[in-house]
Amino acid sequence: MMVKKNIQLDAAGRLKHFLSIEGLSKTILINILDHAETFTSVGERAVKKVPLLRGKTVVNLFFEASTRTRTTFELAAKRLSADVMNINIDASATSKGESLADTLRTLEAMQADMFIVRHQDSGAPEFIARLVSAGVSVINAGDGRHAHPTQAMLDMFTIRKHKPIFENLAVAIVGDIKHSRVARSEIHALKILGVPEIRVVAPKTLIPAEIEKLGVSVHHDIQQGIKDADVVIMLRLQKERMSSALLPSGSEFFNTYGLTSKNLKAAKPDAIVMHPGPINRGIEIDSAIADSKQSLILEQVANGIAVRMAIMSLVVGNASL
Ligand code: CP
Repeated sequence: MMVKKNIQLDAAGRLKHFLSIEGLSKTILINILDHAETFTSVGERAVKKVPLLRGKTVVNLFFEASTRTRTTFELAAKRLSADVMNINIDASATSKGESLADTLRTLEAMQADMFIVRHQDSGAPEFIARLVSAGVSVINAGDGRHAHPTQAMLDMFTIRKHKPIFENLAVAIVGDIKHSRVARSEIHALKILGVPEIRVVAPKTLIPAEIEKLGVSVHHDIQQGIKDADVVIMLRLQKERMSSALLPSGSEFFNTYGLTSKNLKAAKPDAIVMHPGPINRGIEIDSAIADSKQSLILEQVANGIAVRMAIMSLVVGNASL
């Protein structure tokens, strides 16, 4: 039987690209989390820099809007002492009809060492990883509905900070599962790390077909879905990816699936609340919860810097401080 090669790994099984959580081992995920621990202290220093990517050129190639991911990748690369180029796609030759492959070759000619890619099409980062030269790494910063692996890893890092034993946890992911690349990557990461109970909570129209095959239980009632959960991850309604009106209105969604103080009482009293952002207050989450002590939304953003530093240093094979 032909075994499909995991393009993310080199011949020795080390990370070369970071495209998807699927297919990675628990050892690799734990290694990323442990390395990220060592990088959190860099942000607390007077000089917030280490020389691990000195002389390397990192290109931020974002074909879709982003606040958190793009800026934390830029900051992470700068803290690793890399040179960073942010390509403005709207002002680039791509907007004049240049193909993705030709844009890539042009940027590679400038001796880029790493591409951080966000794209509206699922599979675009892997396509780029197959195009680039052997010494160049590609990191997926979110592709279509497919994957957002660095978001999943920063969320695993945040969970581990507050709930250190993955094997003891019940995690509920609530909201627009169908259109969410974050949900897919989170489910794979939670499974690989040994979380025994993963639930998805959404109306039938926002649950993808055969999601149970990933080892999750499906719930259509928020109080039942988050009952005794240790971690509640809320997701944004991805209206830009909905082809038809799958929902009557945001306010109706909030009345049924919004995380309010009343609903959150169903979870464990010390449950943590997470959201990858951007958040829509009053649609998927009540402001009182988003700003409460149980909410780790801003901590997730801050942890994104250390986790992205860890992933970037691992793919260039240079992970120690
Ligand atoms: N969580 C996330 O990907 O946010 P941005 O779209 O702002 O990068």
